[in-house]
Amino acid sequence: MVGNIRLNESKLGSQQYWDDFYKKEIENFNTNSEDTGECWFDDSNAETKIIEYLLNYFEEGKAADDATILDVGTGNGHLLFQLHEELSESDVGEKAQFVGIDYSPHSVLFAKEIANRKYSDVGFKFEQVDLLQKECTFIQKNQGAFQIVLDKGTLDAIALNQQPIAEFGGKIGMEIYASQVSQMMAEGSILLITSCNFTESELIDVITESGTNDLSVYDRIEYPKIQFGGVEGSTVCSIAFMKK
Ligand SMILES: C[S@@+](CC[C@H](N)C(=O)[O-])C[C@H]1O[C@@H](n2cnc3c(N)ncnc32)[C@H](O)[C@@H]1O
Repeated sequence: MVGNIRLNESKLGSQQYWDDFYKKEIENFNTNSEDTGECWFDDSNAETKIIEYLLNYFEEGKAADDATILDVGTGNGHLLFQLHEELSESDVGEKAQFVGIDYSPHSVLFAKEIANRKYSDVGFKFEQVDLLQKECTFIQKNQGAFQIVLDKGTLDAIALNQQPIAEFGGKIGMEIYASQVSQMMAEGSILLITSCNFTESELIDVITESGTNDLSVYDRIEYPKIQFGGVEGSTVCSIAFMKK
């Protein structure tokens, strides 16, 4: 167990919930092609801040122009599409490759549909992948393949499922997540996670497995602080972890 961190069980931790969710988003998109779906943590301006962070990362020469970028639990792919838009207006990341994975078949259908209709010249790749599968072909084929890995709200969803996974000796999803994702990261690559369910220190504990694995804190994104009951905090946090 990672520390004693546990979130409550919720329907947001089930594949059925997310598949129904993206099925609905496809229906909305088919009625109005401007409606490309929910942008999680928009009220905290998280997506804009993540993209600003990544633009700087490229501009400072920390990522190559042809960097491989993976979004885990990509949902409607919004973060990748928006990142592409911003990179194409800058003079960095011109040849970046964008890959999104999600375990919901309707998420993948939806992201592919948006990519086909709006960005057919870019070559976005979307694939249905369950991050928590032991014999996962995508993970096996992509060992060390990505320079930037993004997660906005996916670990949060995973942590809302407390069901033990037999093929991982009864561990729950959030205890398996770091080792699964880390396999796809190149040495020196970053995993930028944005969460509303974990505090910064909990997130660090979960991802570094209390400082015992090959991921360590690299950087963080600042969000405006709020005060509650004399305690200061933010509604979301984003932390970048580097693979040693
Ligand atoms: C809160 S949504 C965030 C979606 C997207 N990242 C965004 O910011 O709009 C959580 C996403 O994680 C995906 N997800 C949850 N568990 C997963 C797993 N084990 N493997 C792959 N995707 C998963 C869900 O299908 C859903 O798309």
